[in-house]
Amino acid sequence: MSSGHDRELLRHHGDVDAGPGLLDFAVNVRLDRPPTWLRDRLAAALDRLGRYPSAADDLAARTAAAARHGRDADEVLLLAGAAEGFALLPSLRPRLAALVHPSFTEPELALRTAGVEVARVQLNPRDGYRLDAAAVPEQADLVVLGNPTNPTSVLHPAAEIRKLLRPGRVVVVDEAFADTVPGEPESLAGFGEPGLLVLRSLTKMWGLPGLRAGYALGDPGLLAELARNRPHWPVNTLVLEAVAACCEPAALAESEQAAAQLQEHRAALAGALAGIPGVRVNSPARAPFLLLEVPDGERVRAGLRERGVAVRRGDTFPGLGADHLRVAVRDPETNALLVKAVRDVVERG
Ligand SMILES: Cc1ncc(COP(=O)(O)O)c(C=O)c1O
Repeated sequence: MSSGHDRELLRHHGDVDAGPGLLDFAVNVRLDRPPTWLRDRLAAALDRLGRYPSAADDLAARTAAAARHGRDADEVLLLAGAAEGFALLPSLRPRLAALVHPSFTEPELALRTAGVEVARVQLNPRDGYRLDAAAVPEQADLVVLGNPTNPTSVLHPAAEIRKLLRPGRVVVVDEAFADTVPGEPESLAGFGEPGLLVLRSLTKMWGLPGLRAGYALGDPGLLAELARNRPHWPVNTLVLEAVAACCEPAALAESEQAAAQLQEHRAALAGALAGIPGVRVNSPARAPFLLLEVPDGERVRAGLRERGVAVRRGDTFPGLGADHLRVAVRDPETNALLVKAVRDVVERG
């Protein structure tokens, strides 16, 4: 790690930008608590905390996740959130990791902390930060990217990602937001290709950041290597219950409906924000947030805060600067408050 300051920036996340009493456009979690049916499932599982997480519960959760993606249960590794998947990447003993940026910074932080050499692949703002597989160094034996990508909201074509696959290389696709895209057209979760590791999260769709629930999909040998240094019982009983519950057909239908609704709300918000002189919205946007470029970003962010609105600063993402802001897509009424506040701050100069 080059400096403590650098590390601090990589560790910065939207939860720090949000604050008590502020209207939160900084954190990209869909709900402020899990839905009632899911809370009930978790509450019913509390009685099982009196015993260690069982192999049967682990298998039930893996079987549910596998069925969801058309995989086998031994191609699923349950995780304490996608974030744990990043923390485990050094176990693969990569020599050179290519991190596609701008993107979520935890993978880079985990790899650099473990002393892995990292190459940053900066996507080009002029083409809206689209993936160019040819820009990834040939010698990288680990490549990490997000799809759809935080913070650009870009959904990369699955075919372009698959171009990254090579013998001797692991390609990690962070699909923490994939379930927010209707039909998941570019997801690689169902592809059992050697060297492909897909990370999924329950956090965003189900309002579960406090639970820490996710899973990895990949070749069983690769998953075993990834899990090599984990403690025994790495995932708790409530996480096992949540994964099983959220992969059931009723949950999938609810999630698909939420994704379709999000798509409408996002289009309206993007249009309204892009109509404010000086505000640029990175597009096409396919995630539950928008990347904005505004004039005098620091002043805009401070002005929004004064008006009770929290947005995610953009300058901690490699390749972005102070004029970049990320905003979550909320319901139309809440979005209207953001649009009004941005217009007010930007137009006052
Ligand atoms: C792109 C991306 N991937 C992964 C994560 C972490 O997900 P989890 O809560 O499952 O660890 C986040 C959380 O902010 C994220 O934005």
